Amino acid sequence: MFRTDYFWPLETERLFIRRLELGDAGDIYAVSSNCEVSRYVLWETHRTLADSKGFIRGILHKYRVGDPASWAIALKADGRVIGTIGFMWVSHENASAEVGYSIGVEHWNKGYMTEALQAVIDYGFGEMRLNRIEAQHDVENPASGRVMLKCGMREEGTLRQRLYNKGKFVDVAVYSILRQEWRH
Ligand SMILES: CC(C)(COP(=O)(O)OP(=O)(O)OC[C@H]1O[C@@H](n2cnc3c(N)ncnc32)[C@H](O)[C@@H]1OP(=O)(O)O)[C@@H](O)C(=O)NCCC(=O)NCCS
Repeated sequence: MFRTDYFWPLETERLFIRRLELGDAGDIYAVSSNCEVSRYVLWETHRTLADSKGFIRGILHKYRVGDPASWAIALKADGRVIGTIGFMWVSHENASAEVGYSIGVEHWNKGYMTEALQAVIDYGFGEMRLNRIEAQHDVENPASGRVMLKCGMREEGTLRQRLYNKGKFVDVAVYSILRQEWRH
């Protein structure tokens, strides 16, 4: 019943969520070379196109070995990749997973990530048969928590100095949605 093929292509009103490809390196570089985007995530700002290619190669390896990994978020309008979303880990024993995401600055506050996260939650419960999906954000990044709330996730609490990121320990807010809450 529990499925492990994490890369079903998804479609929303304005987006395709699909596998990353090496040909996306230019779009990924445009997004990930901006330190506004990388400030609260665990990866470093991409300094060169080679960084973005290396990032995608790492993801392609995860696809090959069947590990959870990021998907591309592409605009239906012009095919451009504007960000990524995916499962950071999946626990088969507990039917749970953590989702993570980022999107380019020029696309913020247009509802794109809410649209993408809702699709991934629907996929996680509908196709993968998960029981719990969680997400976390640096408390200094409230826009991410807003996206989680809009998708029906609940805040569970703050883990103090949970992560060491970009030179400092950061407090992290944890959110989740349970299968029994999905579509209610
Ligand atoms: C966080 C992020 C994913 C949001 O993506 P997005 O496409 O802009 O999200 P949406 O447009 O769907 O929703 C954003 C919500 O946050 C709100 N918001 C924006 N800035 C905010 C702030 N400083 N404080 C509180 N809420 C804020 C918006 O008003 C909107 O809520 P609303 O629809 O109720 O008005 C995006 O800013 C991003 O990629 N940031 C860099 C990477 C990152 O931080 N990833 C998350 C790591 S946990």
